[in-house]
Amino acid sequence: MRSNSALLKRIKITVQAGSGIGPMRQIKWAAQDLAKNARKIPGAFKHETLSGVTRGTEKIWAKWGGFVKNAANLASSAELLALAADNQEMSGVKNGIKTLGANCGGCHKAFRVKKKRRKKMAKMKKKK
Ligand code: HEC
Repeated sequence: MRSNSALLKRIKITVQAGSGIGPMRQIKWAAQDLAKNARKIPGAFKHETLSGVTRGTEKIWAKWGGFVKNAANLASSAELLALAADNQEMSGVKNGIKTLGANCGGCHKAFRVKKKRRKKMAKMKKKK
């Protein structure tokens, strides 16, 4: 769990590094690390014991195939970004970051409990 949280934090940091106007080489390294990290996501969540402990929903295990696919999409989009940075293609880098961000959000939307939703659920319970 702790390693996963560190992993995700690292991803966030690398994305921030990637969205800056920093040298292409930095972007490439960050994207390569991100791809490596993305490939570790399924392993970090493999054990269902995390259920309830994290903001990951039970859907992760109920729809494991989809979750793994999301992680794989993130990894391949990070690899594309690294490639674009390696080729010094600014438009490719920009698109790559967009796709990457969409992959982060997509998985969170599907598999992560929203803080707001939790509050809403509490409200709904009160009404009953
Ligand atoms: C395969 C699904 C998936 C992908 C792809 C994904 N995440 Fe997450 N992320 C999660 C889940 C599930 C949690 C909740 C984790 C928890 O509470 O243990 C989470 C939590 C987080 C958190 C909250 C802090 C933490 O450590 O719990 C951050 C920040 C985060 N993700 C950033 C990112 C970024 C940035 C990307 C894209 C580069 C990304 N994530 C891609 C599934 C994913």
